[in-house]
Amino acid sequence: MRVSVKQAIQLLRSGQVVAMPTETVYGLAACLDQPVAIEQIFQIKGRPSTNPLIIHVADIKTVVDCSKELPPHFKELAEAFWPGPLTLIVPIQPERVPASVRSGLPTAGFRMPQHPLALEVLKETGPLVMPSANLSGKPSATRPEHVEEDFGRDFPVLDGGGCDKGVESTILYYQHPRWVVVRLGALAPAVFALVLGYQPENLKAFKHEQPLCPGQLFRHYAPRAKLILGDREQMEGAPFILGFKERSYPLHSRVLYLGSLLDAEEVAVNLYQALRQLDFEGARVAWVDMDFPREGLWETIAERLLRAGEG
Ligand code: TXA
Ligand code: MG
Repeated sequence: MRVSVKQAIQLLRSGQVVAMPTETVYGLAACLDQPVAIEQIFQIKGRPSTNPLIIHVADIKTVVDCSKELPPHFKELAEAFWPGPLTLIVPIQPERVPASVRSGLPTAGFRMPQHPLALEVLKETGPLVMPSANLSGKPSATRPEHVEEDFGRDFPVLDGGGCDKGVESTILYYQHPRWVVVRLGALAPAVFALVLGYQPENLKAFKHEQPLCPGQLFRHYAPRAKLILGDREQMEGAPFILGFKERSYPLHSRVLYLGSLLDAEEVAVNLYQALRQLDFEGARVAWVDMDFPREGLWETIAERLLRAGEG
């Protein structure tokens, strides 16, 4: 069910969960001061309670008020990249952020989304927790239709059309004496060098048993189809292929184009839609053309495809 900004605000204030657009992906929103709605988010998504939620804000002051001590460069990062696809993990005062939101951790993730509708809602409701609006494990939702696929047509969705970025925010964590990337995202690590004076290292947190970003432990972005990440030489006879529009692929394969090899932004925007399309068309196995660059946003795209192909 599509709802207006006004209805979304009313529903959220009355303790309900509403899906809404951000510039990265759609989020499932609940007010930070509505514990029942927060609990529902975990239930609706089938999300483990050990995977904390990001708190979305309309101003930096809310973060300052919740925080215990702000890591060096916090303000410079927030001022340079907010509103925008950056989540900053900050030590908090435990009484200011419900334990369920942060899965009992002494920190919480904050971000100010760059979407006019999201900001309009946030200004009225105050801080909102918002995980991506997909069933746990599935590709994130980048269109209102994706939210309806996962949660049904009666689920309230604020319609903002397609998302501009198409992949989630980059998450930075301060590990003395430096910020590190614990989830690659829509902002490439190199952009932070302007503010920090160094490029934060990507921790590849999912290789650790106790990652700094708990979400890296769980299955993610996966369609029902088994993905074979590989070589164009081995694609003969492939029923489904995810590929690039400059390339030619075996004649009888159904090719879903991610976009152009010259345009990582375009590929990021189309990525989850393409993974969902595989399910829509009943694909059981699909080959992915992994022969693309690895710098900048391409690194995020490669990481999402690797995760989507796991398990
Ligand atoms: O772009 C985005 O970030 C989207 C939109 C809706 O804002 N949201 C999103 O939320 O991707 P979600 O819940 O799908 O992913 C949040 C990630 C999880 O991997 C979680 O473990 C991590 O953020 N996270 C949240 N709080 C954390 C904390 N205190 N410490 C470390 N990681 C945290
Ligand atoms: Mg998610």
